[in-house]
Amino acid sequence: PRCIWLSRHGESQYNLTGRIGGDANLSERGWRYAKKLPELVLNSLGEENKHTNLTIWTSTLARTQQTASFLPYKKKLQWKALDELDAGECDGMTYEEIEAKFPEDFKARDDNKYEYRYRGGESYRDIVIRLEPIIMELERQENILIITHQAVLRCIYAYFMNVPQEESPWMSIPLHTLIKLDPRAYSTIVSQMKADI
Ligand code: G3H
Repeated sequence: PRCIWLSRHGESQYNLTGRIGGDANLSERGWRYAKKLPELVLNSLGEENKHTNLTIWTSTLARTQQTASFLPYKKKLQWKALDELDAGECDGMTYEEIEAKFPEDFKARDDNKYEYRYRGGESYRDIVIRLEPIIMELERQENILIITHQAVLRCIYAYFMNVPQEESPWMSIPLHTLIKLDPRAYSTIVSQMKADI
């Protein structure tokens, strides 16, 4: 049966210091997740489907490609449309730094996280729009494993779970966890496998 697997990239150097955006490499723990991921995927397939071929989609950023690097599947595609929410002028800052430098923006985002667009960057709504071609392609494809970023995964997850897009910013997508979506006619069956790392 056709399924979609979702994963955030492993913990990055920026995650460790609370910085958003950027193009950091994985942390040591992030690399451990990358090494564990092939086994998580196999376990989710089960014995009888273990030879199922997956196509891997990542963003263009190093941390998603590093997370995909040990997966034994030939077809790996990078999509710019899967890159993390562009925080514009706030790229590379911590939330504390953003609050100190742009207090009104920080409050505006708190008031309406879906619509708030970073200065020179994007909103969650912008992500939903740029994901349209991705979603269309996903609907036509066979088994895909998508390794991307928190904000992007929230929007993809909300779409398949039939949650209104405006609620995307509050979806919980845990780190170091493989999510398997099995879309059925009227609902999607979800399973989550947390890596023990
Ligand atoms: O900036 C990217 C983060 O993955 C999104 O987190 O929208 O909760 O601030 P946030």
